[in-house]
Amino acid sequence: MEVVIKLLICHSFLLLLLPALAAAETLQTYIVQLHPHEGGSASAVSTAGSRLDWHASFLERSVSPEQEKHPSSRILYSYHTVFDGFAAQITDGEAASLRALPGVASVRADRRLELHTTYSYRFLGLNFCPTGAWARSGYGRGTIVGILDTGLWPESPSFDDRGMPPAPVRWTGVCQGGDHFNASNCNRKLIGARFYSKGHRANYPTNPSEAASLLEYVSPRDAHGHGTHTASTAAGAAVPGASVLGAGAGEARGVAPGAHMAAYKVCWFNGCYSSDILAGMDDAVRDGVDVLSLSLGGFPIPLFEDSIAIGSFRATVRGVSVVCAAGNNGPARSSVANEAPWVLTVGAATLDRRFPAYVRLGNGGVLYGESMYPGKTGGLKKGGNKDDLELVYAAGGTRESEYCLKGSLDKAAVAGKMVVCNRGITGRADKGEAVKEAGGAAMILANTEINRQEDSVDVHVLPATLVGYKEAVELKKYITSTRRPSARLVFAGTRIGRARAPAVALFSARGPSLTNPSVLKPDVIAPGVNIIAAWPGNIGPSGLDVDARRSNFSVLSGTSMAAPHVAGIAALVRSSHPSWSPAMVRSAIMTSADITDRQGKAIMDGEGGRAGVFAMGAGHVSPARAVDPGLVYDIQPGDYVTHLCTLGYTHMEIFKITHTGVNCTAELQKNRGFSLNYPSIAVAFKSGGAKSSSAVLRRTVTNVGTPNSTYTAQMAAPPGVKIAVAPTTLSFVEFGDQRSFRVTVEAASPPAGKDSAEGYLVWKQSGGQGKHVVRSPIAVTWVAE
Ligand SMILES: *[C@@H]1O[C@H](CO)[C@@H](O)[C@H](O)[C@H]1NC(C)=O
Ligand SMILES: *[C@@H]1O[C@H](CO)[C@@H](O)[C@H](O)[C@H]1NC(C)=O
Ligand SMILES: *[C@@H]1O[C@H](CO)[C@@H](O)[C@H](O)[C@H]1NC(C)=O
Ligand SMILES: *[C@@H]1O[C@H](CO)[C@@H](O)[C@H](O)[C@H]1NC(C)=O
Repeated sequence: MEVVIKLLICHSFLLLLLPALAAAETLQTYIVQLHPHEGGSASAVSTAGSRLDWHASFLERSVSPEQEKHPSSRILYSYHTVFDGFAAQITDGEAASLRALPGVASVRADRRLELHTTYSYRFLGLNFCPTGAWARSGYGRGTIVGILDTGLWPESPSFDDRGMPPAPVRWTGVCQGGDHFNASNCNRKLIGARFYSKGHRANYPTNPSEAASLLEYVSPRDAHGHGTHTASTAAGAAVPGASVLGAGAGEARGVAPGAHMAAYKVCWFNGCYSSDILAGMDDAVRDGVDVLSLSLGGFPIPLFEDSIAIGSFRATVRGVSVVCAAGNNGPARSSVANEAPWVLTVGAATLDRRFPAYVRLGNGGVLYGESMYPGKTGGLKKGGNKDDLELVYAAGGTRESEYCLKGSLDKAAVAGKMVVCNRGITGRADKGEAVKEAGGAAMILANTEINRQEDSVDVHVLPATLVGYKEAVELKKYITSTRRPSARLVFAGTRIGRARAPAVALFSARGPSLTNPSVLKPDVIAPGVNIIAAWPGNIGPSGLDVDARRSNFSVLSGTSMAAPHVAGIAALVRSSHPSWSPAMVRSAIMTSADITDRQGKAIMDGEGGRAGVFAMGAGHVSPARAVDPGLVYDIQPGDYVTHLCTLGYTHMEIFKITHTGVNCTAELQKNRGFSLNYPSIAVAFKSGGAKSSSAVLRRTVTNVGTPNSTYTAQMAAPPGVKIAVAPTTLSFVEFGDQRSFRVTVEAASPPAGKDSAEGYLVWKQSGGQGKHVVRSPIAVTWVAE
């Protein structure tokens, strides 16, 4: 919540100031996309200086002549690797004249994106459980994972380089110095670090003293914790003997502990700007990263306006696997962001780890709750009622006080008591601070109806627990039916293996993709609830300020935490198969995913019931199988262009994504019946009209398992939908052999009351060494005509 609140404060501050200044002459950041060779041959713009001149020449032709500054001083960034063009500070009028210039493909206002974490940036006095237990030592060796985030805290033991080989010779990245950061902060683990603040600063000009109060390091150093957390999740070193205070011990370790990492700081206290993100991607791809991890984004927008989609297209062409968080706007339908077909889109799932902290009511009743409060653990039965605290709810008589917003609580009413606070969508850790400030002794965070049973835990500044909606209803019933309600909290430490997991997190964004329902998104789910990973040494429970209770680890939840797990797995797969394309790496991760939980039952959804394909995509990642998938579905960059043609995108829209021209009429004539060789199968039919619809999809698989292997098809079709596969047997002689097949999906009008259906196709290896199972989910959606 820290970030969001700061943002709101800044907004209202600006709103007060701006009306006076807000003439048409206000400078804004725009991202200008160019046709690559217009106005200069490729060789003429091959050096940074000539490129800047070339970019400035566009501004010279469009900016108002009375501006005293040279146009090039308005350029924030010149892009040339994943994007052709520049970011500049211009007025609306100048943007309009730029748009009209020949050679200009598009002029888009900068866009603010957010980190995909669920509101809490608070530290945990505890530490790590082995979320990366599958990661075998040495795996990921030789690969480089780039993290676009809030930078990192280089002193964290997770970034120690003991046992790491030197950076690969192809690496051309740098360790950019700045505020509290210099070249000596990089090592063989952290081989590069850069920061991008121009887009951010153009939007939020702060004077130096303000900047200091925000503790924004103008350098790759992380002042928030998010980037430290995600980087260590992907490729953090093993930290042996990291013990959980009061509850067991564990080893902290990223998913690919043998991989190198490079930090690209593109996010600041007020979010992440597209212009900074593009600059980070531009450098990262040129520097030589193999995998890019992005735990940030916004709401879904058309691909040709989405800087992450555009930047990641060329990254993919250059062989970089781009892994993105799906976003936390679930369980709303079609909330999935970062859904470009060349990106690996990751939703969040729970772990089988619980932090029980029960509420024992004065009447003997017990409510299950969860907490990371590092309190003394105890039994439920011990002790009488004499240590109970009086319970109080809505102490202040206002709606704000029901939610324990700052300043809403009546001090006399809460002093020394256990305060019940509705959770809703406001900052959880902030409620704890509000209760403590008002003199409360403990807190029960009570889920409201929209939170259901979702259980992202935090570390609070006072003893606290979080209860689900069902428990919250019981709790309030008890309070209203009792003259002097009381309760105590019983902390039960860390429990592993009890709960049914993984399950899809309630907040994890859902498909079908708003912009392109013909590709199933998200692709997979990975751990993203109550994830413990590295944390800056200076950030205490109140967020950015220095606090006595320092820790090297913290707990966070969000698809932000899920994406770096998958980035780490991508590093493992690439380390085992260095020649594989990003599409092959993604295919391996998708077709080997689990659809059952640790108990062997169907993966459940935090929303209730079994998880569907729009919640979990191909399923929950399984790294051990991903490195040996048997068959893979490969995609050439040109196939993505043809795919964009099948979506009806115009020549210009496709150009904005790919930076290359295409004649879709000719392209589709050449590729009749084209379908993208995606490892999942999604069919979008038009609803309305009684006649049945059918679609034929072609797929090609490459044998990467064993020579002389045979696979047979098994499939499940949803009721009312016919699915046929031909041929139903695929035989491969050599390693690398390719075989094609057709999937025919046929359906009458959608099943009553539904607009989607799902099934699956599995290629199962038969015979002696037959162990590979290559699974693709099938999703059918009906969209209004
Ligand atoms: C980097 O910073 C550290 C700590 O401030 C300092 O001791 C060291 O000399 C600096 N190194 C370089 C290369 O500037
Ligand atoms: C955190 O890590 C630093 C550097 O390795 C170490 O000196 C410090 O003792 C650690 N702090 C805690 C609380 O474990
Ligand atoms: C695109 O290709 C079609 C078919 O080959 C051709 O008729 C048409 O002229 C081409 N359009 C352009 C703009 O080149
Ligand atoms: C595959 O089968 C062929 C024909 O039966 C045989 O010659 C070849 O040695 C086999 N290859 C392997 C690796 O087993």
